[in-house]
Amino acid sequence: MNELFEEEFQFNQASRPNWEHGAAHRNLITGYLTELAESSGGRLCVLGAGNCNDLDLQKLSEVYSEIHLVDLDESALKYAVEFQSISENPAIHQHVLDLTGVGDSLAVFKSDHQGEDALQEIIDALSVSQADKLPGPFDVVCSTCILSQLILQVVHAVGETHPRFEELIVSVRGQHFRTALDLIGEGGAGLIVSDFVSSESAADLKDVPDFQFTQYLSQLLSSRNFFHGVHPGLLFAQLKGDSPLAKLVEDVEMLHPWRWNLGARQYAVAGLRFHRRNAE
Ligand SMILES: C[S@@+](CC[C@H](N)C(=O)[O-])C[C@H]1O[C@@H](n2cnc3c(N)ncnc32)[C@H](O)[C@@H]1O
Repeated sequence: MNELFEEEFQFNQASRPNWEHGAAHRNLITGYLTELAESSGGRLCVLGAGNCNDLDLQKLSEVYSEIHLVDLDESALKYAVEFQSISENPAIHQHVLDLTGVGDSLAVFKSDHQGEDALQEIIDALSVSQADKLPGPFDVVCSTCILSQLILQVVHAVGETHPRFEELIVSVRGQHFRTALDLIGEGGAGLIVSDFVSSESAADLKDVPDFQFTQYLSQLLSSRNFFHGVHPGLLFAQLKGDSPLAKLVEDVEMLHPWRWNLGARQYAVAGLRFHRRNAE
């Protein structure tokens, strides 16, 4: 049993009964994806779909001809389609896979206290996009609150004090963006959604009024209170400026951050919306 994956399964199991709490978050993401369907339409792929508490699958199935849900956790996907009464809809496709391809190696690295060579192999493997494992290209690709989890697996496997920790995080983040982009067909669209801090380390997140929310988040970010590797500015930088991926995209837009209510805990969430450029 992969200990790192087991933590994901447990988190998904525990967060299942949050359909009601998550309504605002779900409506926002479903709304963004519905708008993108109007400009792009066709086939949607969701990375980190899990319980799908953040997707109204019935609404999305009215605007997309195919919806591909991707996650490590088969039971979460099964729960999602049954809970939303959409399991019989032929437009829904489930794909159970590790979106880094290195989850098992990370778990072995952790349990067997492996050395430098094993870590180098992991870093090398992270340079490979995982898009070939899915039936792309898609018209719209959405990554939904999975990136912080992918990075958390590195935190748990290697530890924050490891000399190559930062390099690993950069590799995981880079691979995830590369995979998402490789899955989008020319002219298609992407939506990367990432939680970046929670009320566990920022207790006022739950109570701060909407009009002070952005200012509050700026304070958190400047005091370095955010999850490893997912500072919204860093996410934006993946697709802007000198980044190797920047030339593949256009209309890159940082959405207004919002709150994701997960019952006992709340998260601040960043969103990036963009289009894949046509080849010249
Ligand atoms: C925070 S949850 C996303 C929330 C989910 N969309 C929902 O509303 O229920 C992150 C998801 O990423 C999945 N995940 C984590 N690591 C993964 C990996 N290496 N490959 C594929 N999925 C992974 C987890 O199983 C989990 O379902």
